[in-house]
Amino acid sequence: MTDVTRRLFMHAASVAAAAVSSGASAGTRVAGPVRVIASGNGASATQKAWELLQEGLDPVDAVVGGVALVEDDPLDNSVGYGGLPNERGVVELDAAVMHGPTHRAGGVASLQGIRHPAQVALKVLQRTDHVLLVGAGALEFARAHGFQEENLLTEHSRKIWLRWKETMSERDDWLPDPADAESPVADFFRRNSVLVEDTGRLRFRRPTGTIHCAALGAGGSMSCTTTTSGLAFKIPGRVGDSPIIGAGLYVDNEVGSCGSTGRGEANLQNLSSFAAVELMRSGASPEEAGMEVLRRIAKTTEQRLRRADGKPDFDISFYVMSKDGRYAGTSMYKGSKFAVTDERGTRLEDCQGLY
Ligand code: GLY
Repeated sequence: MTDVTRRLFMHAASVAAAAVSSGASAGTRVAGPVRVIASGNGASATQKAWELLQEGLDPVDAVVGGVALVEDDPLDNSVGYGGLPNERGVVELDAAVMHGPTHRAGGVASLQGIRHPAQVALKVLQRTDHVLLVGAGALEFARAHGFQEENLLTEHSRKIWLRWKETMSERDDWLPDPADAESPVADFFRRNSVLVEDTGRLRFRRPTGTIHCAALGAGGSMSCTTTTSGLAFKIPGRVGDSPIIGAGLYVDNEVGSCGSTGRGEANLQNLSSFAAVELMRSGASPEEAGMEVLRRIAKTTEQRLRRADGKPDFDISFYVMSKDGRYAGTSMYKGSKFAVTDERGTRLEDCQGLY
């Protein structure tokens, strides 16, 4: 536990103790399930965060420590090192953290050259009176705190970006490599393509992968983080939902937490993570809350983003946990998984699909 997190934790503990002595419900819970949940790419993160909780770390340090494994992973093209770049070939990262006991939050957006944006977001929470730093200011802040700059674009991600650029139009001067048809890069494009029924052709769908991770610690403290390289080949400066409190993540320590992966614009338009927690406050279960925000997104999706059958032409998922340890993963379309670690071990479970 860092010094500042320990101070925050002790402050929260004293608030909880005061609530106990005054007979209020806040803080009366002294034991309960310890659980970590994450998006489907986060099994290593939930396992690591669980181990850090067992060592006595605060949940906010546990989730940030857990997702660092995925931020480090060059094979995960949606997060940190090896993330897919913006349209100019530059990796730009977004991340946020939220600490339930103090209700404090920190985030960074459009951060370049730092592989652990969730750690920088935690520093924003701990060492500033702000919630969100962006672009050059976020990088300057990270440098001031000793974070090392590096090139986050791996050769694999560079080749994926170059092929995207070369195949985007037949009316520009960039020509794809004709020998590339069977390469790992071509395979990446096949795996991220959908069949367009009218034409029978494959259409590439730009990935919006991300990792969200939430922890419920002993005594009922909750925290969460979301970290991402955002929409692949985005316009430079595009900020998604991940660093925006209430959109890509939210926690209320008296209610529960929610975080998301998938099309960030839909969460920015619906403030989905805040909405899910508020639905739980009104009595919804984690699954009901996650399904209701999906219905709201499906209802408000504009026509150009709908398939021929009227359903949204994108996927989006929610990872929802209540303060008593109930949890759910929900997705626009069936087939997604989410990761869980608790006393039963680490596993992937099915997200409930709206469609
Ligand atoms: N949900 C990740 C993004 O849209 O940036």
